[in-house]
Amino acid sequence: MSLAKQNYSTAAEDQINAQILQEQTAAANYESIGAYFARDNIGLPGLAKFFRNQAEEERQHAQKLMHYQQLRGGCVVLHPIPAPPTEWQSAKNAVEVSLDLEKEVNKNLLHLSSLAENNGDSQLVSYIREEFLSEQVRSIEEFAKMITHLNRVGGDGLGLYLFDQNLLENGKIDVGGGNSGV
Ligand SMILES: [Fe+2]
Repeated sequence: MSLAKQNYSTAAEDQINAQILQEQTAAANYESIGAYFARDNIGLPGLAKFFRNQAEEERQHAQKLMHYQQLRGGCVVLHPIPAPPTEWQSAKNAVEVSLDLEKEVNKNLLHLSSLAENNGDSQLVSYIREEFLSEQVRSIEEFAKMITHLNRVGGDGLGLYLFDQNLLENGKIDVGGGNSGV
């Protein structure tokens, strides 16, 4: 039994472990999407780079939650990470799947936050709010905007090439405008 543990429920501890798995699952999906875009017959280096960066961010989220689990005297329990798909229908399809993933992560973070609130665990509530929720809604907005841009440029061709080059140059979709552009 941890000497540090105080006001940290088993439900919260389990949910943090579930969140670790979810971040690792997102990382695996983004790694697979990045590898798909980097194929010689797909050739979209901007999207490949963007998704590799996303994968790295998700790995860091998982690490951060592991450290938090230890901080509170919980036990880090790792689970097998489900294998992501290998094939993606199109750039838009991959980004749509990503948006769904981010919304699912957000839903679970909100669940964790209300679970902590019901247990009077103010420390966990503020940790999730400050360290995860703002970043999460920013990610959702970014993927949503990406879909709008991809709809605008149409399927394959010059539009997609320019979209990808812009992403390669700037590393993000929204340069200079909107909340995610700063
Ligand atoms: Fe994440």
